[in-house]
Formats: sequence, structure tokens, C-alpha cells
Amino acid sequence: MNILLLGSGGRECAIAWKLAQSPRCEKLFIAPGNAGTASYGENINISATDFDAVARFAIENNINMVVVGPEDPLVKGIYDYFGNNSELSHIPVIGPSKAGAQLEGSKDFAKAFMMRHNIPTARYRSFTADNIEEGYAFLESLKAPYVLKADGLAAGKGVLILPTLEEAKNELRAMLDGMFGGASATVVIEEFLSGIECSVFVLTDGASYKILPVAKDYKRIGEGDTGLNTGGMGAVSPVPFANEAFMQKVEQRIIIPTIEGLKKENIEYRGFIFLGLIDVAGEPMVIEYNVRMGDPETEVVMPRIASDLVDLLEGVATQTLDQRNLDIDPRAAVTVMLVSGGYPGNYEKGKEITGLDKVKNSVIFHAGTANKEGKIVTSGGRVIAVTSYGNTRKEALETSYQSAALIEFEGKYNRRDIGSDLEKL
Ligand code: AMP
Ligand code: GLY
Repeated sequence: MNILLLGSGGRECAIAWKLAQSPRCEKLFIAPGNAGTASYGENINISATDFDAVARFAIENNINMVVVGPEDPLVKGIYDYFGNNSELSHIPVIGPSKAGAQLEGSKDFAKAFMMRHNIPTARYRSFTADNIEEGYAFLESLKAPYVLKADGLAAGKGVLILPTLEEAKNELRAMLDGMFGGASATVVIEEFLSGIECSVFVLTDGASYKILPVAKDYKRIGEGDTGLNTGGMGAVSPVPFANEAFMQKVEQRIIIPTIEGLKKENIEYRGFIFLGLIDVAGEPMVIEYNVRMGDPETEVVMPRIASDLVDLLEGVATQTLDQRNLDIDPRAAVTVMLVSGGYPGNYEKGKEITGLDKVKNSVIFHAGTANKEGKIVTSGGRVIAVTSYGNTRKEALETSYQSAALIEFEGKYNRRDIGSDLEKL
């Protein structure tokens, strides 16, 4: 089958790597892709949100399936765009409908959905400029720290956690005044939850579901989880505290009610559900839904899926997922992100990357790279994800660090403590 994958980051590189291994995948195209995805398929210079161009390409190239990496095209409704057009409706899109994508596109929608279906999450209320006074009063009823969330997509920056009531009130006003543009015209205020987080990924065809390997990502730039937030500095899978007892609760209290809730509300959903969970004294609670795979979690989840991903996605497309196998590789996988100097602040692009060919014991996923005059150069803050397997997480980490040392570009930085918080548990 001919597959078109949308997106251009480390997540898409890992998905491309996995799709290309399938004997069922005849041709793989990635729009727009990066220097790494080019080794698994053909990059095409089309933006993932230019639906007209994506559709034209799909028709002209006999595409049999569109796999959507990032949230943007999903929230903008690519599933419905294909489904509602008679020339395109035979091409399955792996992802939720526009209504389903609201689970990520609107925090207010996601919270209300969880309330309707009794899914455990932090207590909350939503406010607009019209009832800001009630927002202040709600903040006064909570204990520090205070969690404010822009309702809409804000490129991963829309959540503020404030230590004092005064700062929380000021930031609430600033958000409603347009700190994140239209995305913060509505603000969700919620109770702060204390615990350790993990990412659970579910693949669903709208009727049944499969639970993919659980991962944990490391968001801060500095070791010991300090400093500014980034797109993700590394990830590990499996996650020891997400043991059988915990996952039993996740499935019964969160996954099943989510799938059943979507069904009851007639929301079409054929794709990945990403549950951002927090373990509050052994009880899983939902921090957020995303409607796509995580990045850099995908760089450890894909390597641990032993089954054919194309077969699973075909199961999603034809609503026969319950007849497909999902085998998990028992080994641990760890990914370490190599980033540009200065990231997540200002950084330079276009630095030549060398040493990639020296890496023999890890899988290299490109995140922010480009081809320039025959050379591979940096083109983003997060540049390369170095993924390794190991019998233990520690073994996998060691291999990733050894491989990371072989790759050079000016300003390269990586954390050296990915997964070390889990040692203490
Ligand atoms: P989000 O953009 O929704 O992933 O939120 C970013 C981060 O903020 C999460 O990964 C959590 O670490 C933190 N966070 C969000 N909501 C809460 C909450 N209710 N309690 C504690 N931390 C939270
Ligand atoms: N790693 C978190 C995310 O992809 O949103």
C-alpha cells in the first residue's frame, strides 16, 4: 500500500522508520519530512496543514492511507476534509475527526468530556474575560500552586503553574487579555496535582483499542528536571511505576470510559489517543489528552512495537483492530535528544552534523535536520534523538550516551540523567 505520513519531527521519523519495515508498505511519502525521514521514504515539499495540496498529492499518487503525526492538521479537521469529499473519502486518515481532536484542541472541551464520563482529573472551572471576577474567587478557593491553562493550542506553552495567588491572578488577567492570542480567550483553572507523570498511548478504531507501550518524557532543559520547558529532552519505556495494578486502573477508569464516551457522543475517532497521566498516590488521573503520539515518546514507543504497524493501522482504518496482534518487545528503550546550543531560547541553525555513520548500536531519529548541499545540517532546537535498546533501562541509556558522543555539531547539548528519577522509586 502507498502511505502518506504528515509531519517533520522526531516523532514522524520514528513512525516512518516503523512503517518502512512493513512488507505491506510499498511506497512511503512524508510531507514535509526531514533529512532522516528521507532514508525511509520520499519527502515531499507540502505542509501538513495545506489540505488542498495534501489531497491533490494523495489522489495523484494513489495514496491508500494518510497517517497524521502532529495535532495541527487534526484540530483543523483533516479527517473530515477527506471524509466529506467523494474523491478522497476512500482514503482512510489515521486520526480523530475534528470533533474528536477537540480533546486536545480545547482544554475546556476535554475537561467537560472527562466530567461527563466520570474520568478522574483535577477539579477545574473555565473562565473568560466576562467572568474574570469569578476566576479570581475560584483561585482564592484553591491552594498554591495554581494551574492556569489556555483553552486552545498554544504550541505547548499554554500551561502556567504559579506559586502565589497574586501571580496567578495577574497571569489570569494577562491570559484573558490575549497572552496566547485567541487560544487564551478561555482559561481553565485547575487544582494542582502532585505526583509522577507518564504517557499512555492507545490506538483505537472507534470500537476496540490496543494499549501501546507506556513511556515517560523529560521536558526540562536542565538535569534534575530544572530550567525551561522544552519539546522534550528524552524518554524511556517501559515505566516501572506503570505496573500491572496501575495499568488495570488506567484501563478501567480512563481508557474504557474514554472510548465509550466517544462512542456515546457519536464522535468518530480512528487514531492514537495520548493520555498524559499523573500517579497521585497510586491513583491515575488525567492531566491532558492529546490526539496524536508524543514526541519524544514515539522514539521509544515505536521501537518497542514488535508487530507490523501497517497491519495495526489497517485494522484501525477498517475497524478490525480487534483482529490484529500487538506484540511488545520486552526490552527497554531509551531516547536521548541532542539539541542546539541555546535551545529552548535563541539558537543558530544550519550547523553541519557529523558522525552519524559511526553510530552502530543505536537507532538515530532525526528531529530538526535538513539536507543542504549534500550535508546534513541542524534546522531546529531539537536535532537528533538517539534511541537504544537494553535489557535494562540503564543499559539502554549507556548505549545512547556512547552513541550520542559520536555525533557532533557546533553547540550540541544533551541531558545525562534521562530516567534517573525512576531509579529512586
Ligand atoms: P500540558 O501542556 O497540559 O501537558 O501541561 C504541561 C505540564 O504542566 C504537564 O506535563 C504537567 O507537568 C503540568 N500540569 C498540568 N496540569 C497540572 C495539574 N493539574 N497539576 C500539576 N501539574 C500540572
Ligand atoms: N512529549 C509530550 C508531547 O508530545 O506533548
